[in-house]
Amino acid sequence: MDATAINEPGPARSAASITLENIGKTYPDGTVAVGDFSLEVGAGDLAVLIGPSGCGKSTILRMINRLIEPTSGRILIDGQNILDRNPVELRRHIGYVIQNVGLFPHQNIRTNIGTVPRLLGWDKKKINERADELLELVGLDPSRYAKRYPHELSGGQRQRVGVARALAADPLVLLMDEPFSAVDPIARGRLQEEFLKLQATVRKTIVLVTHDIDEAVRLGDRIAVLAEGGRLLQYAPPAELLSRPDSVAVGDFVGADRGIRRLAVTPLRPALRPVEEGAATDGRPVVEADGTLYDALAAMLAADATEVLAVEDGRPVGLVSRAALFDVPKAFDVPTNEAEAAV
Ligand SMILES: Nc1ncnc2c1ncn2[C@@H]1O[C@H](COP(=O)(O)OP(=O)(O)O)[C@@H](O)[C@H]1O
Ligand SMILES: [Mg+2]
Repeated sequence: MDATAINEPGPARSAASITLENIGKTYPDGTVAVGDFSLEVGAGDLAVLIGPSGCGKSTILRMINRLIEPTSGRILIDGQNILDRNPVELRRHIGYVIQNVGLFPHQNIRTNIGTVPRLLGWDKKKINERADELLELVGLDPSRYAKRYPHELSGGQRQRVGVARALAADPLVLLMDEPFSAVDPIARGRLQEEFLKLQATVRKTIVLVTHDIDEAVRLGDRIAVLAEGGRLLQYAPPAELLSRPDSVAVGDFVGADRGIRRLAVTPLRPALRPVEEGAATDGRPVVEADGTLYDALAAMLAADATEVLAVEDGRPVGLVSRAALFDVPKAFDVPTNEAEAAV
């Protein structure tokens, strides 16, 4: 891309690749928060950074929008070195979502969402339309919520507004630092679910930090497992990380129950056996055919059954047996959430 393309507002381009090349951060007190870290995130992909507290995740994220200046290395967005850019201006093109959102308490929701478009000089009508469009997109009815103030929303709703605000000026990249950690587990599950749908629509290049392996597996196209000092242990799609952790440290990190997690990222469809013409399927527990083996296991356990019936639009399309659950190949080729959705 040319040197000015990154400055252009609007929907001309909606995602960009991110390349981190040997970036490092040593704080003035001598702390090496990140030694030498490299990562490539494809345009439209969601990469998760996960690792123990203090391993440098937030430092890496904040180097991408230059809230923290790296002490070494290069950061490229669509091949352009952003370290040459004015940081304040750069941040207007990079959405940033943090744990407690940081909405402005004395501004209503619509005004909060319009923050960056206002800085970019959009006209008022366009800003309001954009804010309402985004409220719809994150599942909040604008006629009810646009005029409210942040304290009049639940934690989960505020978090959605935070996502809407980050998307307002159609940024090239979205950075999210433990965005769902502060909400209760039930609301978190729902937010994650909605967030996946949103990402399927907007297809941003996202770097998301979490310390929750289930969240990482659920949301990530690829997961980077980090150790202290920002040391990259493994960078792989969820299914591969769970089936082939390439070190003891990663195996420990993804947990002894990774076999069960793996079921949750393994699509059901390839495990289906055809339903024979006229076969009795009554009484069998039912799952959606676009679900995962985890869903099939849950249905079998709940009904104490040895087989479940997979349906599509209410019609039977196949059967899954208990044995199929143990038949997940060690390495298989359905690595990304995207591929899973496309099966
Ligand atoms: N301003 C700072 N000065 C010195 N050390 C810092 C500063 N900010 C963070 N650190 C240290 O850098 C390391 C990485 O921090 P951070 O990136 O926040 O970790 P994480 O997000 O993975 O929990 C930690 O050891 C932390 O104490
Ligand atoms: Mg952090």
